[in-house]
Amino acid sequence: MTKLIAGNWKMNGLVASSQVLAHGLADKVKANPGRADVAICPPGPLIRDALSAVSGSPISVGGQDCHANESGAHTGDTSAALLADMGCSSVILGHSERRADHGETSALVKNKAQAALNAGLVVIVCVGESEAERDAGQAETVIGQQIDGSLPAGGTPQTVVIAYEPVWAIGTGRTPSLQEIRAIHVFIRNRAQESHGLGDGLRILYGGSVKPGNASEILAIQGVDGALVGGASLTVEDFWGIIENCP
Ligand code: PGA
Repeated sequence: MTKLIAGNWKMNGLVASSQVLAHGLADKVKANPGRADVAICPPGPLIRDALSAVSGSPISVGGQDCHANESGAHTGDTSAALLADMGCSSVILGHSERRADHGETSALVKNKAQAALNAGLVVIVCVGESEAERDAGQAETVIGQQIDGSLPAGGTPQTVVIAYEPVWAIGTGRTPSLQEIRAIHVFIRNRAQESHGLGDGLRILYGGSVKPGNASEILAIQGVDGALVGGASLTVEDFWGIIENCP
């Protein structure tokens, strides 16, 4: 399976700097095609500029969130239909920062995912345990509940991607061992199969402190189908350093 490397820019970048980043990435990917499927997920107001910067390259653009409703009186929110209409291919949903900062529950994430599927977007649904949950031996319980509760009905391996992001590994420079990542990815695939019939061919990404220096060993793990990258997606050098390390 071709790996998917998705850059989650979070709330970073201004107009000019994001243009430099998107153009620089597009040049790299055009010059070295076929390493991986590459997506960037800029802040909403930068999506249009990012789309034009990467046009003519195989890089796709995604959102970082959407509302569960198609349209309406929801100040500050963005609909999945608008993301799709602008030219986005995907949307990240249920990121741990949104679950923590905005109190997003798995039920809400599922409704958003349903809206995104209806709009024709690929959904990248994030799951992962906190450090306390991990220390308490609850990682699989928590992740299992997130999978059961967050995945949309009617998804397929072409339209649903799961990102395993241990909360304690995000932005910290710490990562689980390779064996731990492998084991959790096996667990996630089995659970997605049981709960939603989605195991075979499902892309499961790892996210949390992926860098050029650890990308090749993480991406070589069987069952790791790509990476969701935060901090290291903010420079061409680092993001390309991950893409070119795809086995
Ligand atoms: P990080 O973030 O790569 O900066 O750890 C990953 C993410 O939150 O998607």
